[in-house]
Amino acid sequence: MSGIAFLLNGTPVRVEGEAPTRTLLDWLREDRGLTGTKEACCEGDCGACTVMVTDDSGSKALNACILFLHQLDGKAVRTVEGISGPGGKMHPVQEAMVQHHGSQCGFCTPGFVVSMAVAHLNGARDHDDQLAGNLCRCTGYAPIIRAAEAVEAAPVPDWMKADQPLSLSQISSVKSEEPGSFTGGFTPRDSDELADWYLANPEAVLIAGATDVGLWVTKSLRDLKPVAFLSGVKDLQGIERRGGQLHVGAGVTIAALREAVAGPLPSFGELLRRYASQQVRNAATIGGNIANGSPIGDGPPALIALGATLHLRRGDEMRSLPLEHFFLDYRKQDRRPGEFVVGVSFPDHARGLRCYKISKRFDQDISAVCGCFNVTVDGGTVTDARIAFGGMAGIPKRAALAEAAVLGQPWTLATVEAAAQAMAGDFTPLSDMRASAAYRLTTAQNLMIRYFHDLQGVPVSVLEVRA
Ligand SMILES: Cc1cc2nc3c(=O)[nH]c(=O)nc-3n(C[C@H](O)[C@H](O)[C@H](O)COP(=O)(O)OP(=O)(O)OC[C@H]3O[C@@H](n4cnc5c(N)ncnc54)[C@H](O)[C@@H]3O)c2cc1C
Ligand code: FES
Ligand code: FES
Repeated sequence: MSGIAFLLNGTPVRVEGEAPTRTLLDWLREDRGLTGTKEACCEGDCGACTVMVTDDSGSKALNACILFLHQLDGKAVRTVEGISGPGGKMHPVQEAMVQHHGSQCGFCTPGFVVSMAVAHLNGARDHDDQLAGNLCRCTGYAPIIRAAEAVEAAPVPDWMKADQPLSLSQISSVKSEEPGSFTGGFTPRDSDELADWYLANPEAVLIAGATDVGLWVTKSLRDLKPVAFLSGVKDLQGIERRGGQLHVGAGVTIAALREAVAGPLPSFGELLRRYASQQVRNAATIGGNIANGSPIGDGPPALIALGATLHLRRGDEMRSLPLEHFFLDYRKQDRRPGEFVVGVSFPDHARGLRCYKISKRFDQDISAVCGCFNVTVDGGTVTDARIAFGGMAGIPKRAALAEAAVLGQPWTLATVEAAAQAMAGDFTPLSDMRASAAYRLTTAQNLMIRYFHDLQGVPVSVLEVRA
């Protein structure tokens, strides 16, 4: 049995014999007495459990409640106890929180402090985005944002830099060199090891970012054995631009994907900004977002509108298919036992792409409807149309009738209104806690009209429209 080794607040630790589904939060609080990391929702929604995790891609804020210990092998973890310096010296964000009255009952404060310290370390100044995953019931947020702004120019304390890759070499003395078989699972080092192991263990659960699987454990109390943790499979974590396409590995996080598409596909980048929170985007992968087959995932509608190709592997056998063909029925995908998602490729630019996420809250909310449009107009006539929705059916789905209604037609409001009408034949949405069927259909039709105005340069974003 191999152990897990990582740096905890600057000190190397080795953990042996832990169940694959033991969360970092439980371990910190129950085994280490580090109770500054708070437990609240246990589903990644509130940020009370935020910790800083550093690996060779940098330092990130993550939710410890849905982070399994086995995902930490070889990394560095810093809890709120490690955010202050030697002798209890306060971090500048802690001093600023005091000065600006950023804490009242204090329950959310450790999580905020960690998120703010990570943002400060990374030089991030988009405080609303950085802190959207931290909930506070008392302060109204303004004092916290003021505290974050106040320390923008303060130097990063030395101890916060101690978790950079140079120090990570310290843990090599305690880190396992063997491929990671452990009781109840496996930690492959590359996709060949993953392919062999998964072919032999097709009943296993693959765990990438654990932003879905974590909740199966903390909320559904499921027993998951055996599992394979994909976080060490580096060859699934690349983004390559080649032949007019972006080739994105299944293990690429939503945060990294957002960065990659923000320039060439700005509307897709903006959609990903609305995807959960910083902590969740730092963990969640695009492979997990596709493989879970959720009808309300935000990645698939945008990728289908882009005409993405999905790449799968089973043993030594590779295959590729248009992404929309992967989704067969509610939670039923075209994936054979032992087959996993390798990556997805899609055009690296699409001038007509626009993605609209409709949810009850701007941040940290799942879509009620997600509509993605990609129409090409040549000489006033529509020459290509791809329109895909999440939240309108049991799967992410193209609006075939709406597409047919615009194809070959002049790009006018009348054409678009006819397409919106045709959309009623494309979908029979459900009513649930997020939205009624009637709301969903009307919204989808209105998004078609919004798309037309958007392409004409009319401001349509909720951040741009003013009463
Ligand atoms: C608080 C919160 C907010 C969220 N908000 C959003 C949101 O706004 N939009 C949205 O779309 N989603 C949202 N989600 C859902 C979740 O983040 C996504 O579905 C995520 O992309 C899953 O990726 P993961 O790497 O965490 O997957 P995991 O949880 O690790 O796995 C999910 C599923 O995919 C499988 N899997 C993972 N990788 C592979 C692979 N390479 N090949 C085959 N199977 C694989 C797993 O076995 C599992 O069945 C949210 C989740 C939380 C907790
Ligand atoms: S306890 Fe709420 S995000 Fe972890
Ligand atoms: S200070 Fe009470 S929840 Fe934030």
